[in-house]
Amino acid sequence: MKQITLTRPDDWHVHFRDGDALGEIVPHHARRFGRAIVMPNLKPPVTSLNDAMAYRQRVVDAIPAGCDFTPLMTLYLTQKTSPEDIENAKQSGMIYGVKLYPAGATTNSDAGVTDIFALLPTLQAMTNVGLPLLIHAEVTDPAVDVFDREKSFLEQVVKPLLEKLPDLKVVLEHVTTADMANFVIDAGGHVGATVTPQHLLYNRSDIFRGGINPHLYCLPILKREQHRERLCEIVASGDPRFFLGTDSAPHSQHAKESACGCAGIFSAPCAIEVYAEIFESLGALEKLEGFASFHGADFYGLPRNESQITLINKPWTVPESFPMDNKNQLIPLKANETLHWQLV
Ligand code: DOR
Ligand code: ZN
Repeated sequence: MKQITLTRPDDWHVHFRDGDALGEIVPHHARRFGRAIVMPNLKPPVTSLNDAMAYRQRVVDAIPAGCDFTPLMTLYLTQKTSPEDIENAKQSGMIYGVKLYPAGATTNSDAGVTDIFALLPTLQAMTNVGLPLLIHAEVTDPAVDVFDREKSFLEQVVKPLLEKLPDLKVVLEHVTTADMANFVIDAGGHVGATVTPQHLLYNRSDIFRGGINPHLYCLPILKREQHRERLCEIVASGDPRFFLGTDSAPHSQHAKESACGCAGIFSAPCAIEVYAEIFESLGALEKLEGFASFHGADFYGLPRNESQITLINKPWTVPESFPMDNKNQLIPLKANETLHWQLV
């Protein structure tokens, strides 16, 4: 096949950061995607409608002229988020989800949730107004092995929570295990999941191939091969509960290549191209458009995009790095590697 034309895809999970970096990061998304669910884990986090509106404007200011791109904002759930906050957020028409970071689970999650079961009235309000809970599904107990944290969260939090609130709309973000993915399949249509490129491409051994590779460190961490294979099988099946969410999470080269490197993979500069390669390698290129352009919009109850993008089969090399601000560089996913699907 020489070219693929797709309904313009959406990215249902991204980190844009803030400040000068927005001008470097946002354009990569705006060229490829129609919309993106924007994560609220800034410093300080986006906990109020006012914060979200101000942040939205800064993101909009970073969209290059002529790009057909809309940021969809989220709120960062804290132990203080009230049912009234939820009703106001919904009424504004500008908030598309509320993000649950278990406190201490990942980057800028310190202000996150320490006891989700104490927030049942807030979650009930979300159920009432139809605002989805976007979950970083990992337990934070240091005694739990880092590779088992998603599976433990499924048992300790997701299952009991959905027993109490069976109609809560939930997105299990960046699903990494067969256990969680199988749960989504059995849960019914109000539970969906985003899938990153890295969790379809790599397993945990890849982090250590030829030496430690900090650019493959993200959270939830890459898992065993059997989990990667199950995720590939599911997306290739065209299951509508699974949709594109890159979790592109830029950190400077300096912060990644450090004695205590940050978690996050910057996939924005080649995201849709890499997903195309993955679906092609799975023999499921015809399922790419559903995953990238339809399933997420349908899940969120939003119209599908009307415009299109085209990828051509023409090799290109992903740049070694991109500038982040005037001091720092960003190393992208697939840096210096050749991809054969190229965005027109
Ligand atoms: O790898 C990650 N990076 N996982 C997250 O949950 C957060 C993200 C970030 O913000 O850097
Ligand atoms: Zn994320």
